[in-house]
Amino acid sequence: MSLTITPLAAPLGAEVTGIDLRQPQPADVRQRLYDAWVEHAVLVIRDQKLAPAEFLEAAQIFGKALQQQLRKFTLPELPLVGTISSRDLPLVDGKLHVRGENYHTDHSNYPAPPKATTLHAINLPDTGGDTQFVDVRKAFDDLPQTLRQTIVSLRSPHVYEGSHSPRKMTALSAEERAKVPQTSQPLVIRHPDSDRHALYLNTGRMEGIEGLSSDDGWALIDQLYKHATQTRYEYRHRWRAGDMVIWDNRSVMHQANADYDPAQYRFLYRIMLEGAPLQAAA
Ligand code: SIN
Repeated sequence: MSLTITPLAAPLGAEVTGIDLRQPQPADVRQRLYDAWVEHAVLVIRDQKLAPAEFLEAAQIFGKALQQQLRKFTLPELPLVGTISSRDLPLVDGKLHVRGENYHTDHSNYPAPPKATTLHAINLPDTGGDTQFVDVRKAFDDLPQTLRQTIVSLRSPHVYEGSHSPRKMTALSAEERAKVPQTSQPLVIRHPDSDRHALYLNTGRMEGIEGLSSDDGWALIDQLYKHATQTRYEYRHRWRAGDMVIWDNRSVMHQANADYDPAQYRFLYRIMLEGAPLQAAA
């Protein structure tokens, strides 16, 4: 078996083959994977067959696992491993109400949001249920210089569910609600490993822009969001059973799709990795 890392035919992402993550990996292989993840922002590691504890071990090649915000979607025996199951989702007008159905970056209301999220696909519908990613580094680089200068020192409050959220967030228990953090995040961040700048947007959790009126703040957020979610920045992942996909929450936004038959079973394991407080680009 020989490890191969090949850029995807897309604006971002790379495919990884020739590795069995059930086996311990030597330091040089771990470093190659980490560097490829930083560069390409999404790694699609094919043909894995990981039990939850093995998935946790594999994820920790990239960092330390983090407890997720919604405890009810984690394994009781291994709470650092979460689940995404179509059987946990309510039906609204005959369509599944999936979690994450608009472009976002995970847990942006945390003072130190998770640097990575990873999913391992176990059961998939025959069609649909793709996950989409957009490269918010390229989206920032392509903005006119005057706009980059204007936004580089701006910040936004991030809360559990913003007043302009395009989707309803999962209801929290009283205990979770008491603990849920909120914070101020830079609108443009600098990646701690690559030094690249990126837009940091999450319309589900933002509350406008500090120092701007609500109308002006939302007009700017909507403009940046529309720009960053164009298909020229997108990789659409069509899942295969056994895929382990890991993405960098500081370099991409992602979204789920509710376009599959609700009678079909979609099940993935999910792990998040601890991040540090975000660095402002300015
Ligand atoms: C997520 O936002 O983490 C869920 C992605 C998916 O289910 O496709």
